[in-house]
Amino acid sequence: MLKNRINVVVAGATGYVGLGLVNLLSKHPKVSIQNLCSKNNIGKKIQYFDKNIKKKLPKLEKLTNVNWKNIDLLFLSLPNGEAQKVIKNLFYKYKNIKFIDLSSDFRIENHILYKKNYNLSHKAKDLISKSLYSIAEIKKKQIKDHRIIANPGCYPTSIQLPLIPLFKKKLIKLNNITIDSKSGYSGAGKNYKKKFKYKNFFNSTYAYSVNYHRHAAELEQEFAKISKKISFTFNPHIIPTFRGILSSIYVYKKKNVSFSKIVNTLKKEYSKNYFIKICKPNNPLGTGNVINTNFCEISISQLKSKNKLVILSVIDNLIKGASGQAIQNMNLLFKFKESLGLK
Ligand SMILES: NC(=O)c1ccc[n+]([C@@H]2O[C@H](COP(=O)([O-])OP(=O)(O)OC[C@H]3O[C@@H](n4cnc5c(N)ncnc54)[C@H](OP(=O)(O)O)[C@@H]3O)[C@@H](O)[C@H]2O)c1
Repeated sequence: MLKNRINVVVAGATGYVGLGLVNLLSKHPKVSIQNLCSKNNIGKKIQYFDKNIKKKLPKLEKLTNVNWKNIDLLFLSLPNGEAQKVIKNLFYKYKNIKFIDLSSDFRIENHILYKKNYNLSHKAKDLISKSLYSIAEIKKKQIKDHRIIANPGCYPTSIQLPLIPLFKKKLIKLNNITIDSKSGYSGAGKNYKKKFKYKNFFNSTYAYSVNYHRHAAELEQEFAKISKKISFTFNPHIIPTFRGILSSIYVYKKKNVSFSKIVNTLKKEYSKNYFIKICKPNNPLGTGNVINTNFCEISISQLKSKNKLVILSVIDNLIKGASGQAIQNMNLLFKFKESLGLK
């Protein structure tokens, strides 16, 4: 064990999110990677999956091989339903271990809603109330009191960052909100071809889960903490690009609230948040600026129709929407500088 560093294990290291996480952690000055875990690739080197990872790291092994005694933090980047089983086994036995789960397992506070949404009966119901759903910018003050952090979904990160401050300051109407999001196909993980079998995958823009997408549940949950009256339509799309999310959010500002008040409120809210950039209003915005970074860029445009605005929000789904945000949460959890290892 290296002094001054926390000992970390990554479960699901070979996935799209896991590889990004390992790459960032391998360069983090306060982290020592102790174990990298997989289910089907035991014994392989991580570089077999990603040559960009330069550091010599332990070979892939089973989670059951890990010696948990000196571990400070376990990242879980596994398919939905797996993290809850792992955390259930470790939580009370190893009280020094903290957990950052990148799946949906601890995002939904009500286990009945979780089952309805994910079609899985939760295996660690008693631990849900001990966890914290954390968008790092929003939950900064609460995070240090928790051992289980639920990293938010990628679409919900791009959507909540602009909307939460505007709801809290009562600047926009709570209904008639339309959220149109577009994501690269890496959002579905490395087996995306099995998940999306429609024709012309790489030349097609594809609307899916139109009547209800699972990520709406975490949005409804977090919005209801501000007001039960908030209602929205969420329509996600897959576009023929590997990574990146653009959310176009159509809202109505309240009467007597000026456009500049809305822009300035977001600027002020995020002025001390390194990773959030409020761009020039009424300007175009693309995911290209934020690819391979932990940044979220937001731009607001005023539409011709009275009081109607469109808020554009872009992130890299694999970084700010997953591994980067998880490291940001880790930095807050262990009281490191929030941006450490992410610049
Ligand atoms: N992709 C995104 O943009 C994104 C964004 C935010 C959150 N997430 C969430 O993050 C998690 C990982 O996503 P991903 O896109 O990286 O998925 P992925 O590419 O499919 O990777 C899944 C990882 O989990 C491992 N694994 C699969 N089944 C396992 C099991 N039963 N036990 C232990 N390990 C197992 C796989 O290892 P082997 O194949 O080596 O066995 C692989 O390393 C998911 O819950 C996803 O919903 C994804």
